[in-house]
Amino acid sequence: MSKSTDTQPLLGGDSSSVYNSKVKKCGGIKSYISYFINVIAIGIIGYLLFYNPTPAHASNPQTTVDPQKKKNIIFMVTDGMGPASLSLARSFRQYRDQLPINDILTIDKYLVGSSRTRSSNSLVTDSAAGATAFACGLKSYNGAIGVNPNKQPCGTILEALKLQGYYTGLVVTTRITDATPASFSSHVDYRSQEDLIAEHQLGEYPLGRSVDLILGGGRCHFYPRSIPGGCRADNRNLIDEAQINGGWSYVGNREQFDLLQSGENVTLPLLGLLADTDIPYDIDRDSKVYPSLAEQVKVALTALSKATEDSDKGFFLLIEGSRIDHAGHHNDPAAQVREVLAYDAAFREVIKFIDETETETVAISTSDHETGGLVTARQVTPNYPDYLWYPEILANSQHSGDFLAHKLASFKNKANTQEVDKFIKEEILEKDMGITNYKESEIELIKKQINNPGELLYVLNDIVSFRSQTGWTTRGHSAVDVNIYAYTNSPAIKNKLYNHTAYGGLLGNHENIEIGSFMEAITGSDLSAVTKLVSDTKHSPNAAFLESIQQEGIYGDEYHSHI
Ligand SMILES: *[C@@H]1O[C@H](CO)[C@@H](O)[C@H](O)[C@H]1NC(C)=O
Ligand SMILES: *[C@@H]1O[C@H](CO)[C@@H](O)[C@H](O)[C@H]1NC(C)=O
Ligand SMILES: [Zn+2]
Repeated sequence: MSKSTDTQPLLGGDSSSVYNSKVKKCGGIKSYISYFINVIAIGIIGYLLFYNPTPAHASNPQTTVDPQKKKNIIFMVTDGMGPASLSLARSFRQYRDQLPINDILTIDKYLVGSSRTRSSNSLVTDSAAGATAFACGLKSYNGAIGVNPNKQPCGTILEALKLQGYYTGLVVTTRITDATPASFSSHVDYRSQEDLIAEHQLGEYPLGRSVDLILGGGRCHFYPRSIPGGCRADNRNLIDEAQINGGWSYVGNREQFDLLQSGENVTLPLLGLLADTDIPYDIDRDSKVYPSLAEQVKVALTALSKATEDSDKGFFLLIEGSRIDHAGHHNDPAAQVREVLAYDAAFREVIKFIDETETETVAISTSDHETGGLVTARQVTPNYPDYLWYPEILANSQHSGDFLAHKLASFKNKANTQEVDKFIKEEILEKDMGITNYKESEIELIKKQINNPGELLYVLNDIVSFRSQTGWTTRGHSAVDVNIYAYTNSPAIKNKLYNHTAYGGLLGNHENIEIGSFMEAITGSDLSAVTKLVSDTKHSPNAAFLESIQQEGIYGDEYHSHI
């Protein structure tokens, strides 16, 4: 059962003054009679003024948002998903499921506008600056996690709403300490300070614990290096500490996740870390070992709505389709379409929730940036190309290039040259990738990189991309505008949402920070007040760490594991 232990608002959100004001005691029978007359008179006047034969909401929807009204804010990020990823996923699914050409994804039905994504120091943002723009409503530099361009902590929408008495949650498929979830729940100068991010997320910073529910990957930065899979530089085991001192309940695998009963059996705060690093790509995911994003979302929505059932505040939930970005970095179209479709399934859970809940709820979904410079056409001939594109090729691939590169690397350690040749052709290319028309030159390229899975995956992915005539222009991010989607059950929020910039809406083309401002406006949040409260947060790396960042670049783990 969900437990409500801390619904007391700490800042803003005047929830109680009306209900708590004591009824004045009246003395004597005379005042008693006049009291009753007053009550009756007020009742009649009230009836005449407010009586309306049809329900108020049906004939006369409230057109302005009431920031104090109980609400749920669901903010959804498709990391690295640009417009071409949607074209790819849509055409792929039409082919795979034999659907008509007018079949679209669920998310397609909720398109509202588009977002410009630049950061304070580059037209091409990274996920840290991208998420900080949403969380703090300000532009910061690439690598910045919940800090402004002067490296000062900035209050986030998650923190502001927690202080108002909302419950809060983070659901991702990457490490929970990765840039997007981190930017809502921590403050550090560089995204690779993931040990410190984990501490903030559990409440070791001036605000104390601000997150009620965590689901995703990333045990790594909660465990000491001495434990297999751990990577903390200090000797702390935050998972033990959180349970012993912090009162968190913990789930660390599929069996324990299933005991949550789709969110009906959750004790908050909940720390759910389901993988050491990232949860595998959906195309590789063993559903007996890892839940899908949609399953995680279901747990979060149920648990948070149960926890806020009797509260006059709702919840804030961040949901991220984190690894659309990784498939972009890997230039892996077969993995990416499955990531987009897995996100679309999670999006359907959110829509279903909004349609069923009584609480005013809005979901906003957007990307921090595009990844890969994906194009749904590619010139594969020396002369002017035919107008062709074959998403059906992606249906034959049963695994990501990353998975297959590691599969091949571990096979070759226990096999001779002939066996490796046979394995490359029959197991990897024919069986796993569904490709029979491979060329000797491609086999040579595979063998050349066989000891280097980080490069081999690009060789394998290009074999697929080339045949489907899918283009990639970078292993990094691009500056193309990304889409904004939204859905709400509230006429007032809808009225504001489908409005132009001048009225604070999200219709049309926007700067990414305006999405943050929208969430601030509809909840009456004062982020600058929160900024003051988090100013003493420890956010700078020590000298040794700073030097390692300077040597390795700001992208830290993302750089190493995905490029
Ligand atoms: C609910 O969760 C607890 C662990 O927190 C577990 O012991 C119990 O079996 C679960 N109940 C159900 C019905 O799964
Ligand atoms: C946009 O906002 C203005 C000002 O609040 C309001 O009068 C108008 O009805 C809104 N337009 C739409 C399309 O909701
Ligand atoms: Zn990225």
